[in-house]
Amino acid sequence: MAVAEVAAQTPRPEPLSISRITLSHFRNYESMRLVCAASPVILVGANGSGKTNLVEALSLLVPGRGLRRSHLVDLQNRHKTDPWAVAIDLRIDTGDLHIGTGRDITTDNDAERRLVHIDGRPARSQNQLADHIAMGWITPDMDRLLAEGASARRKFLDRLVYSFDPAHNARVQRYEKAMRERLRLLRDGNNDAAWLSALENEMAQTAVAIAAARRDMVRRLRTAIGESGDVFPRADIAVTGIAEDMLDEKPALLVEDALRAAFARLRGDDAQSGTCATGAHRSDLRVTHRAKQCPADLCSTGEQKALLIALMLAYMRLLTVQRNMTPLFLLDDIAAHLDDYRRAALFDEILDLRVQAWLTGTDTESFTRLIPNAQLFTVDNGQILS
Ligand SMILES: Nc1ncnc2c1ncn2[C@@H]1O[C@H](COP(=O)(O)OP(=O)(O)OP(=O)(O)O)[C@@H](O)[C@H]1O
Ligand SMILES: [Mg+2]
Repeated sequence: MAVAEVAAQTPRPEPLSISRITLSHFRNYESMRLVCAASPVILVGANGSGKTNLVEALSLLVPGRGLRRSHLVDLQNRHKTDPWAVAIDLRIDTGDLHIGTGRDITTDNDAERRLVHIDGRPARSQNQLADHIAMGWITPDMDRLLAEGASARRKFLDRLVYSFDPAHNARVQRYEKAMRERLRLLRDGNNDAAWLSALENEMAQTAVAIAAARRDMVRRLRTAIGESGDVFPRADIAVTGIAEDMLDEKPALLVEDALRAAFARLRGDDAQSGTCATGAHRSDLRVTHRAKQCPADLCSTGEQKALLIALMLAYMRLLTVQRNMTPLFLLDDIAAHLDDYRRAALFDEILDLRVQAWLTGTDTESFTRLIPNAQLFTVDNGQILS
């Protein structure tokens, strides 16, 4: 069904928005509280004032390591020993939701475990966050996403799937755990065939589920891209990989069999190389500039950025329409890369989507068109001045 048709049938959900943020000992913030309304938020401040740190704190509202993929110890304010914490109040469809996350002080400093509380109760796992909150972000670090290796694009695609299908995170974790365990056995020269087969079976089953979820996401995104305006370039997208490609031709059960056979056949090679030669961890998201029929990695930096924005806008629309959940949208340092025309189009899209976008920049002028419909805060050396 086309996105527009679904939109016509489904009432739009009430926008998800943040009403209050409290940061304690987080990066360059010592103790900071920000209260805001539901409209887009613009954070302006000098280089090094703490804009990206603040949106990074927001990115911890979804499972994972946030928009910088930081280690948890790096989030700790370097001058303070009390553990960092982020507390956020959200307005949701059914009322208010309080999320707290922070460093787990019951484990040692290097532990990569963060605590998550949802409405005052400890969450079983971070993955539960995805049941409540969807989010997308664009950061300067993503400028090379379409030009560089497959790994970053695959993780990008998987993140899009997480917000759409919360079970996907756990699926990827199960796959990676089985893969690491199999590699450990192979490296140790342990040839326990039953144990290896059990792990390869887990890998094959989860790989097929992962590939199916990625294909489904790409299919939905294609439709959403087809429905979007023409200010930003349209992208042709495809996910490629051993399981994804086979699913074009075979039913899932046969793909599972083929993967099990491939993993068993590659035991010797994998033991030697110390890596797993094939599987769901090798897939790629291929992006082509449709009008130019040009692979994204050969497009200019500005064209790549525009393609990425177009993809994210299509994704945001998809979340509001098909998952019936308005996402939060983080746009770090976005204005600097866009000409006036595209910047205006992006702001119009944000307002039309009714998402609470968080935009950062070093000057107010770039946001002139958005300011009447947004909240402007100045960030100054780990403090917020309104
Ligand atoms: N763990 C930490 N403890 C204390 N300060 C930190 C920590 N991590 C980063 N910082 C500092 O926080 C400051 C703000 O960083 P941030 O990336 O948020 O800046 P910004 O406002 O986004 O700047 P830019 O405009 O250059 O992107 C930097 O000076 C950085 O060195
Ligand atoms: Mg920054």
